[in-house]
Amino acid sequence: MTSEMQEIIEGQAKMTLEKSVFYNPVQEFNRDISIACITQYQKTLNKDIHIFEGLSATGLRSIRYAKEIPNVSKITTNDLDKDAFKTIQENVVKNNVQDIITPSLNDANVAMLQNKNMFDVIDLDPYGSVIPFVDAAIQSIKNGGLLCVTCTDMTVLGGSYLETSYAKYGGTTLKGKFCHEMALRLVLHALESSATRYKRVIVPLMSCSIDFYVRVFVIVKESPKDTKLSCTKTSMVGLCSGCHYYRLQPLGVVNENRTKFSNSRCVLPSKCTFCDFPLHIGGPIYSADIHNQEFVVNLLDALKDESSAQRFKTHKRMLGMVSVISEELNQPLYYDLSQLSSTIKVSTIPVMLFNSALLNEGYKVSSTHCSKTGFKTDAPMDLIWYVLKSWALKQPNYDIKKFEEQKSSPGKNIMNFNFIYDSEVNFEKHELANPSSRIKGLTRYQMNPTKNWGPGAKPTKKLKKDE
Ligand SMILES: C[S@@+](CC[C@H](N)C(=O)[O-])C[C@H]1O[C@@H](n2cnc3c(N)ncnc32)[C@H](O)[C@@H]1O
Ligand SMILES: [Zn+2]
Repeated sequence: MTSEMQEIIEGQAKMTLEKSVFYNPVQEFNRDISIACITQYQKTLNKDIHIFEGLSATGLRSIRYAKEIPNVSKITTNDLDKDAFKTIQENVVKNNVQDIITPSLNDANVAMLQNKNMFDVIDLDPYGSVIPFVDAAIQSIKNGGLLCVTCTDMTVLGGSYLETSYAKYGGTTLKGKFCHEMALRLVLHALESSATRYKRVIVPLMSCSIDFYVRVFVIVKESPKDTKLSCTKTSMVGLCSGCHYYRLQPLGVVNENRTKFSNSRCVLPSKCTFCDFPLHIGGPIYSADIHNQEFVVNLLDALKDESSAQRFKTHKRMLGMVSVISEELNQPLYYDLSQLSSTIKVSTIPVMLFNSALLNEGYKVSSTHCSKTGFKTDAPMDLIWYVLKSWALKQPNYDIKKFEEQKSSPGKNIMNFNFIYDSEVNFEKHELANPSSRIKGLTRYQMNPTKNWGPGAKPTKKLKKDE
């Protein structure tokens, strides 16, 4: 072995890698969760599956799929790079999976378009955005197949460059605390828009915001009828530039029988009802459910099994994240408790008190896997502000006079707002205020996995004589 080579073991794969081929150890979580999801998906099929990995680099992911997912009959493991192809070939032999894996040297788009309606599972894990590969993937996957995609271009998806986000994903970003979920919904919007062009739709099974990237698992279903519903699952988002209130505006609505479509009534005010600051508009985003509850619950059950803990190195984190996902409300996006509290200049309300106040009023509230301080609720914004205002006024050192010298601020306007509620907020502890994943002390949110972590750079190559 030369100094340009490294040996690694991950899951059941033993790999010899050239340093010129891309390998990111931090993505082990991505590979582990993908193995768990594809295993879960395969169980629902009752047949062997054919997987296509379009951008395989070392082939590590495919080799793990071949060895760790039951009932995989065939994997086409593709990369455009010659060194990567050689690494895949060598490691397939080293791991003795030649009967399952066929290495392929091709442009992923060409490989997919030459094999329309071919694959049960397509996995795309590119540098940056998956967008250049989406149209081909939608055509190449079988009806009912599972599409697994990663995007690591969070500078675009996370809110900094709305013009680039629109150009790539067909929706603009917003600089809101909910940007991690908005990123997921922009990717899902792009997948759905591509699918409907081919008489197909997506059904998200699980959508994950992880470290520096997003990873979504969606079923692609052939259904010309369902493509019509797409406009009702797509919304613009209005975000208040003062107090961070947000509201969704669907592009279309449909009657109960799903036979008659109409434009939706405009619900976004130009100025915020609560703080009088302007609303900014973003999107459109995919606004239907981003997780399938049945799939997530079954996945969680499988992860609770003793053998799962042995199977995956990142098991603790998977169990924590999937538990939080299973508890998430199906409400698009989320608020940030610290941000709302700081808008009215009060120290952040303890989450148990806040949750109890909403639950005691008969509303639901949950965490989000996207952010430690985020919350989802079906409670209206005027109740959220009323609870926070009441909390602030209860604090012994809260000085409402500090707003007096300010001309107009979101905090001042909210504290002066006449809410319709007249009864006192009930902050008494509610039995559902503490989610089970928190009571159990699971690893709900991850610390940075290593120093200098991130998407990993493209390896620099020494040019060979003939290049
Ligand atoms: C981020 S790496 C993939 C990592 C891998 N999936 C894993 O889990 O370790 C991206 C790979 O895509 C390959 N690639 C880039 N453009 C491609 C294309 N058009 N067709 C096929 N492969 C491509 C690169 O050579 C690189 O190996
Ligand atoms: Zn506002």
